[in-house]
Amino acid sequence: MKGIVLAGGTGSRLLPSTNSTNKHLLTVYDKPMIYYPLSVLMLGGIRDILIISTQEDQQRFKNLLGDGSSFGLRLQYAVQDEPNGIPEALTIGEAFIGHSDVTLILADNIFFGQGFTNVIRQAIHENKYATIFGYRVKDPNRFGVIEFDEEQNVISLEEKPEDPKSDFAATGLYIYDHQALKLVKKLSFSKRGELEITDLNKLYLEKGQLKVQLLGRGFAWMDAGTHDALFEASAFIKNIQDRQGFKVACLEEIAYYLGYISKQELYEVGKSMDNNEYGTYLLELAERKYTQQYWDESLHYPHLRTVKHG
Ligand code: DAU
Repeated sequence: MKGIVLAGGTGSRLLPSTNSTNKHLLTVYDKPMIYYPLSVLMLGGIRDILIISTQEDQQRFKNLLGDGSSFGLRLQYAVQDEPNGIPEALTIGEAFIGHSDVTLILADNIFFGQGFTNVIRQAIHENKYATIFGYRVKDPNRFGVIEFDEEQNVISLEEKPEDPKSDFAATGLYIYDHQALKLVKKLSFSKRGELEITDLNKLYLEKGQLKVQLLGRGFAWMDAGTHDALFEASAFIKNIQDRQGFKVACLEEIAYYLGYISKQELYEVGKSMDNNEYGTYLLELAERKYTQQYWDESLHYPHLRTVKHG
């Protein structure tokens, strides 16, 4: 399974902040926005990841994340020249995807909730054709909307409908089998001048090959696409982190507990920023303030890790 993070677009709803930087590099409380979707792919067990941005921003992402090795990842970069729509990520990523299946995530999507690692791992493991993730929202007309029956069979999909048939939004996380690369070529531009991810999902639906996985009320899903949404997401992350003392989407922490980086490597990253709280958090982890067992139990995935000692 390969992963793609789509981090292009104009970020126009976040102007003027996005005049000089990419929206997905803005901070959600104590780390760049792109850390959150990257953490989802990591927790899903995906290590080969393509980051798609505009040409102008590509170097900024490289400065931030490099080749990914400090997080135990193999990162590649590609450019989307124009914001032609979300499915274009698959066309741009065609050579990168090769013969694999692919999980696509939008770089402004934040997921948080007990057991999410198991949900994403299982969804990837069980995906036959295409899986999307549904989440109940108050304002479904802002999103792709999923209508489904009592047995969770998808009945219809609509992109930003005026009169939504359900309260369930399609989140910006999509798992596809390899035929997505063929199907995406059948899409045409919508009235708003974009290729629509909802149209790709509809092609799977027509073939009876679309599965929806619902994220329950214990989950938080946010997109940080407006000033209000960004502020609320930051406040949410701060609250959770302050309360628990665990960070959300701390890539070095995840890499460490998944066994991708050693204790020494974790320590060195922490040391490089030991004048701030992010750095001291990493140092505390390296000094094992929390035991491995405590982390496993609280996050419910002891079976996933093989920690390197050293
Ligand atoms: O967040 C979930 C929603 O994302 C889904 O419910 C919708 O079905 C889906 O169409 C999408 O809706 P949005 O209106 O939120 O999409 P937006 O244009 O804001 O783009 C979402 C992210 O993808 C954003 O971070 C920028 C990036 N993007 C978008 C487009 C259209 C690109 O990198 N390139 C693009 O061409």
